[in-house]
Amino acid sequence: MRKDAPEKVSQSELTFPVEELEPLLSGPSSTLAPFEPAMVKLKNGKTLVLRELRRDEAPKLLAFLKKLLDVDHDFYDIVGVRVYAEVLGWLRSRLKDPYQMIGIIDGKLAGFCNGRKMTDDVHISLHSMAYQRGGRVGAAVYYAKTQYAFETLGAKEWWSTFESYNGWMRWGVGMAQPSYPWPDIQHELGGAKVYYITKEYWDSTVKGYMKQVVGGELVRPVPADLLKASENVEFPDKPEV
Ligand SMILES: CC(C)(COP(=O)(O)OP(=O)(O)OC[C@H]1O[C@@H](n2cnc3c(N)ncnc32)[C@H](O)[C@@H]1OP(=O)(O)O)[C@@H](O)C(=O)NCCC(=O)NCCS
Repeated sequence: MRKDAPEKVSQSELTFPVEELEPLLSGPSSTLAPFEPAMVKLKNGKTLVLRELRRDEAPKLLAFLKKLLDVDHDFYDIVGVRVYAEVLGWLRSRLKDPYQMIGIIDGKLAGFCNGRKMTDDVHISLHSMAYQRGGRVGAAVYYAKTQYAFETLGAKEWWSTFESYNGWMRWGVGMAQPSYPWPDIQHELGGAKVYYITKEYWDSTVKGYMKQVVGGELVRPVPADLLKASENVEFPDKPEV
Protein backbone atom coordinates (compact mmCIF):
# COMPACT_ATOMS: atom_id res chain seq x y z
CA MET A 1 0.00 0.00 0.00
CA ARG A 2 1.27 3.52 -0.73
CA LYS A 3 0.17 6.91 0.60
CA ASP A 4 1.76 10.39 0.38
CA ALA A 5 3.78 11.41 3.45
CA PRO A 6 2.04 14.25 5.38
CA GLU A 7 5.39 15.99 6.09
CA LYS A 8 8.74 16.61 4.37
CA VAL A 9 11.17 13.82 5.29
CA SER A 10 14.94 13.71 5.10
CA GLN A 11 14.98 10.03 4.09
CA SER A 12 12.28 8.86 1.71
CA GLU A 13 13.17 5.21 2.21
CA LEU A 14 13.81 3.32 5.42
CA THR A 15 15.09 -0.27 5.54
CA PHE A 16 14.77 -2.81 8.32
CA PRO A 17 17.03 -5.77 9.01
CA VAL A 18 14.94 -8.95 9.25
CA GLU A 19 16.14 -9.27 12.87
CA GLU A 20 14.01 -6.20 13.60
CA LEU A 21 11.02 -7.55 11.71
CA GLU A 22 11.15 -10.97 13.35
CA PRO A 23 9.95 -9.83 16.80
CA LEU A 24 6.85 -8.38 15.14
CA LEU A 25 6.05 -11.65 13.39
CA SER A 26 6.97 -14.13 16.10
CA GLY A 27 6.16 -12.26 19.30
CA PRO A 28 8.07 -12.73 22.55
CA SER A 29 10.10 -15.91 22.97
CA SER A 30 8.36 -18.66 24.89
CA THR A 31 9.33 -19.00 28.54
CA LEU A 32 7.36 -22.13 29.45
CA ALA A 33 8.66 -24.28 32.29
CA PRO A 34 10.23 -27.50 31.02
CA PHE A 35 8.29 -30.77 30.88
CA GLU A 36 9.89 -33.21 33.29
CA PRO A 37 10.34 -36.60 31.57
CA ALA A 38 8.00 -39.33 32.80
CA MET A 39 7.40 -43.02 32.21
CA VAL A 40 4.41 -45.29 32.42
CA LYS A 41 3.85 -49.00 32.19
CA LEU A 42 1.29 -49.62 29.46
CA LYS A 43 -1.46 -52.19 29.41
CA ASN A 44 0.62 -54.32 27.02
CA GLY A 45 3.46 -54.48 29.57
CA LYS A 46 5.77 -52.12 27.64
CA THR A 47 7.29 -49.03 29.24
CA LEU A 48 6.60 -45.73 27.53
CA VAL A 49 9.02 -42.87 28.17
CA LEU A 50 7.70 -39.35 27.61
CA ARG A 51 9.92 -36.37 27.05
CA GLU A 52 10.02 -33.08 25.14
CA LEU A 53 10.69 -33.25 21.41
CA ARG A 54 14.12 -31.72 20.72
CA ARG A 55 14.57 -29.24 17.90
CA ASP A 56 17.27 -31.37 16.29
CA GLU A 57 14.75 -34.25 16.06
CA ALA A 58 12.08 -32.20 14.32
CA PRO A 59 13.31 -32.82 10.73
CA LYS A 60 13.09 -36.59 11.27
CA LEU A 61 9.64 -36.29 12.77
CA LEU A 62 8.52 -34.08 9.87
CA ALA A 63 9.77 -36.66 7.36
CA PHE A 64 7.84 -39.36 9.20
CA LEU A 65 4.68 -37.23 9.39
CA LYS A 66 4.72 -36.74 5.61
CA LYS A 67 4.24 -40.47 5.26
CA LEU A 68 1.05 -40.34 7.32
CA LEU A 69 -0.60 -38.46 4.44
CA ASP A 70 -0.93 -41.80 2.67
CA VAL A 71 -2.56 -43.59 5.61
CA ASP A 72 -6.19 -44.11 4.65
CA HIS A 73 -7.81 -44.89 8.00
CA ASP A 74 -8.57 -43.58 11.48
CA PHE A 75 -7.90 -39.93 10.47
CA TYR A 76 -4.11 -40.34 10.53
CA ASP A 77 -3.90 -38.24 7.35
CA ILE A 78 -5.61 -35.08 8.58
CA VAL A 79 -4.13 -35.28 12.06
CA GLY A 80 -0.69 -36.02 10.56
CA VAL A 81 -0.77 -33.02 8.25
CA ARG A 82 -1.98 -30.71 11.01
CA VAL A 83 0.77 -31.93 13.34
CA TYR A 84 3.24 -31.33 10.50
CA ALA A 85 2.13 -27.69 10.33
CA GLU A 86 2.32 -27.33 14.11
CA VAL A 87 5.82 -28.79 14.40
CA LEU A 88 6.98 -26.56 11.56
CA GLY A 89 5.17 -23.62 13.17
CA TRP A 90 7.17 -24.28 16.35
CA LEU A 91 10.46 -24.56 14.43
CA ARG A 92 9.79 -21.38 12.44
CA SER A 93 8.47 -19.46 15.48
CA ARG A 94 5.05 -18.96 13.96
CA LEU A 95 3.03 -20.42 16.81
CA LYS A 96 2.55 -18.82 20.21
CA ASP A 97 3.80 -20.88 23.16
CA PRO A 98 3.59 -24.40 21.75
CA TYR A 99 4.75 -27.53 23.60
CA GLN A 100 5.35 -30.96 22.12
CA MET A 101 6.31 -34.27 23.65
CA ILE A 102 7.12 -37.67 22.21
CA GLY A 103 6.47 -41.14 23.58
CA ILE A 104 9.25 -43.69 23.17
CA ILE A 105 9.15 -47.49 23.57
CA ASP A 106 12.44 -49.41 23.49
CA GLY A 107 14.16 -46.45 21.84
CA LYS A 108 11.55 -46.16 19.06
CA LEU A 109 9.04 -43.37 18.45
CA ALA A 110 5.64 -44.58 19.68
CA GLY A 111 3.56 -41.44 20.11
CA PHE A 112 3.34 -37.67 19.94
CA CYS A 113 1.30 -34.96 21.64
CA ASN A 114 1.20 -31.18 21.62
CA GLY A 115 -0.66 -28.19 22.93
CA ARG A 116 -0.11 -24.50 23.41
CA LYS A 117 -0.69 -21.73 25.88
CA MET A 118 -3.25 -19.43 24.26
CA THR A 119 -3.57 -17.23 27.36
CA ASP A 120 -2.37 -17.70 30.93
CA ASP A 121 -5.74 -19.29 31.72
CA VAL A 122 -6.69 -21.15 28.54
CA HIS A 123 -4.49 -23.79 26.94
CA ILE A 124 -5.28 -25.45 23.63
CA SER A 125 -5.08 -29.19 23.15
CA LEU A 126 -3.66 -29.53 19.65
CA HIS A 127 -3.06 -33.22 18.84
CA SER A 128 -2.26 -36.67 20.19
CA MET A 129 -1.08 -39.56 18.06
CA ALA A 130 -0.25 -43.22 18.63
CA TYR A 131 2.32 -44.71 16.27
CA GLN A 132 2.11 -48.09 17.96
CA ARG A 133 -1.41 -49.40 18.42
CA GLY A 134 -2.98 -51.54 21.09
CA GLY A 135 -1.11 -50.19 24.14
CA ARG A 136 -3.06 -46.99 24.76
CA VAL A 137 -0.04 -44.90 23.87
CA GLY A 138 -2.41 -42.18 22.66
CA ALA A 139 -4.12 -42.02 26.03
CA ALA A 140 -0.77 -41.85 27.82
CA VAL A 141 0.51 -38.94 25.75
CA TYR A 142 -2.82 -37.12 26.19
CA TYR A 143 -2.55 -37.64 29.95
CA ALA A 144 1.01 -36.26 29.96
CA LYS A 145 0.27 -33.05 28.09
CA THR A 146 -2.93 -32.31 30.01
CA GLN A 147 -1.22 -32.88 33.33
CA TYR A 148 1.60 -30.58 32.19
CA ALA A 149 -0.87 -27.84 31.17
CA PHE A 150 -2.78 -27.92 34.47
CA GLU A 151 -0.16 -28.89 37.02
CA THR A 152 3.07 -27.38 35.68
CA LEU A 153 1.87 -24.42 33.63
CA GLY A 154 -1.14 -23.48 35.75
CA ALA A 155 -3.85 -23.60 33.07
CA LYS A 156 -7.40 -23.03 34.27
CA GLU A 157 -9.08 -24.46 31.14
CA TRP A 158 -8.07 -26.96 28.49
CA TRP A 159 -9.81 -26.62 25.12
CA SER A 160 -10.04 -29.61 22.78
CA THR A 161 -11.77 -30.56 19.57
CA PHE A 162 -11.85 -33.94 17.87
CA GLU A 163 -11.09 -35.01 14.33
CA SER A 164 -11.39 -38.74 14.93
CA TYR A 165 -13.92 -41.13 16.44
CA ASN A 166 -11.18 -42.71 18.58
CA GLY A 167 -10.20 -39.37 20.09
CA TRP A 168 -13.80 -38.30 20.63
CA MET A 169 -14.73 -41.64 22.21
CA ARG A 170 -11.79 -41.71 24.58
CA TRP A 171 -11.63 -38.05 25.55
CA GLY A 172 -14.85 -36.33 24.52
CA VAL A 173 -17.31 -38.99 25.63
CA GLY A 174 -14.98 -40.80 28.04
CA MET A 175 -14.38 -37.66 30.08
CA ALA A 176 -17.95 -36.41 29.63
CA GLN A 177 -16.48 -33.11 28.44
CA PRO A 178 -18.93 -30.22 28.17
CA SER A 179 -18.77 -27.98 25.10
CA TYR A 180 -19.22 -24.27 24.51
CA PRO A 181 -22.07 -22.97 22.32
CA TRP A 182 -21.20 -23.35 18.64
CA PRO A 183 -20.61 -21.50 16.32
CA ASP A 184 -20.32 -18.65 18.88
CA ILE A 185 -17.08 -20.16 20.19
CA GLN A 186 -14.91 -22.12 17.79
CA HIS A 187 -11.75 -24.17 18.21
CA GLU A 188 -8.69 -22.92 16.35
CA LEU A 189 -8.39 -26.28 14.59
CA GLY A 190 -10.71 -25.41 11.73
CA GLY A 191 -13.51 -23.83 13.71
CA ALA A 192 -15.06 -26.99 15.13
CA LYS A 193 -16.80 -27.21 18.50
CA VAL A 194 -14.77 -26.48 21.66
CA TYR A 195 -14.88 -29.18 24.34
CA TYR A 196 -13.29 -28.12 27.59
CA ILE A 197 -12.01 -29.31 30.95
CA THR A 198 -11.62 -26.94 33.88
CA LYS A 199 -8.89 -27.33 36.51
CA GLU A 200 -11.57 -28.27 39.06
CA TYR A 201 -12.91 -31.02 36.76
CA TRP A 202 -9.35 -32.21 36.10
CA ASP A 203 -8.65 -32.52 39.83
CA SER A 204 -11.95 -34.09 40.79
CA THR A 205 -12.56 -36.48 37.91
CA VAL A 206 -10.51 -36.44 34.71
CA LYS A 207 -7.12 -37.19 36.23
CA GLY A 208 -8.47 -40.35 37.83
CA TYR A 209 -10.16 -41.36 34.57
CA MET A 210 -6.88 -40.92 32.65
CA LYS A 211 -5.05 -43.12 35.13
CA GLN A 212 -7.70 -45.81 34.64
CA VAL A 213 -7.52 -45.61 30.84
CA VAL A 214 -3.74 -45.61 30.68
CA GLY A 215 -3.57 -48.33 33.33
CA GLY A 216 -1.07 -46.57 35.58
CA GLU A 217 0.40 -43.33 36.86
CA LEU A 218 3.06 -41.26 35.13
CA VAL A 219 6.21 -41.96 37.14
CA ARG A 220 9.05 -39.50 37.76
CA PRO A 221 11.98 -39.34 37.74
CA VAL A 222 12.82 -41.60 34.83
CA PRO A 223 15.93 -43.62 35.72
CA ALA A 224 19.07 -42.25 34.04
CA ASP A 225 19.72 -45.42 32.00
CA LEU A 226 16.19 -45.41 30.55
CA LEU A 227 16.43 -41.72 29.77
CA LYS A 228 19.76 -42.28 28.06
CA ALA A 229 18.27 -45.13 26.02
CA SER A 230 15.53 -42.73 24.89
CA GLU A 231 17.96 -40.03 23.75
CA ASN A 232 18.59 -41.16 20.17
CA VAL A 233 15.13 -42.10 19.05
CA GLU A 234 14.54 -44.31 16.07
CA PHE A 235 11.91 -42.85 13.75
CA PRO A 236 9.95 -45.56 11.90
CA ASP A 237 10.69 -45.98 8.17
CA LYS A 238 7.00 -46.32 7.50
CA PRO A 239 3.88 -45.92 9.61
CA GLU A 240 2.51 -49.18 10.98
CA VAL A 241 -0.75 -47.93 12.37
C1 LIG B 1 -6.73 -41.31 18.93
C2 LIG B 1 -5.47 -42.11 19.24
C3 LIG B 1 -4.36 -41.15 19.67
C4 LIG B 1 -5.79 -43.04 20.39
O1 LIG B 1 -4.64 -43.82 20.62
P1 LIG B 1 -4.63 -45.04 21.68
O2 LIG B 1 -5.18 -44.55 22.96
O3 LIG B 1 -3.24 -45.53 21.73
O4 LIG B 1 -5.62 -46.09 21.10
P2 LIG B 1 -5.69 -46.75 19.63
O5 LIG B 1 -6.36 -45.83 18.68
O6 LIG B 1 -4.38 -47.31 19.20
O7 LIG B 1 -6.67 -47.93 19.89
C5 LIG B 1 -8.02 -47.74 20.31
C6 LIG B 1 -8.58 -49.11 20.60
O8 LIG B 1 -8.67 -49.88 19.40
C7 LIG B 1 -7.73 -50.95 19.41
N1 LIG B 1 -7.03 -50.85 18.11
C8 LIG B 1 -7.37 -50.02 17.13
N2 LIG B 1 -6.57 -50.20 16.08
C9 LIG B 1 -5.71 -51.13 16.42
C10 LIG B 1 -4.64 -51.75 15.74
N3 LIG B 1 -4.31 -51.40 14.50
N4 LIG B 1 -3.93 -52.67 16.41
C11 LIG B 1 -4.25 -53.01 17.66
N5 LIG B 1 -5.28 -52.46 18.35
C12 LIG B 1 -6.00 -51.55 17.72
C13 LIG B 1 -6.82 -50.69 20.57
O9 LIG B 1 -6.33 -51.87 21.17
C14 LIG B 1 -7.71 -49.93 21.50
O10 LIG B 1 -8.56 -50.82 22.21
P3 LIG B 1 -8.78 -50.66 23.77
O11 LIG B 1 -9.62 -49.46 23.96
O12 LIG B 1 -9.45 -51.91 24.17
O13 LIG B 1 -7.43 -50.51 24.39
C15 LIG B 1 -5.02 -42.93 18.01
O14 LIG B 1 -6.12 -43.65 17.53
C16 LIG B 1 -4.46 -42.09 16.89
O15 LIG B 1 -3.30 -41.72 16.88
N6 LIG B 1 -5.31 -41.78 15.90
C17 LIG B 1 -4.94 -40.94 14.77
C18 LIG B 1 -4.78 -39.51 15.21
C19 LIG B 1 -5.96 -39.03 16.00
O16 LIG B 1 -7.10 -39.30 15.67
N7 LIG B 1 -5.68 -38.24 17.06
C20 LIG B 1 -6.68 -37.69 17.90
C21 LIG B 1 -7.36 -36.56 17.20
S1 LIG B 1 -8.88 -36.19 17.99
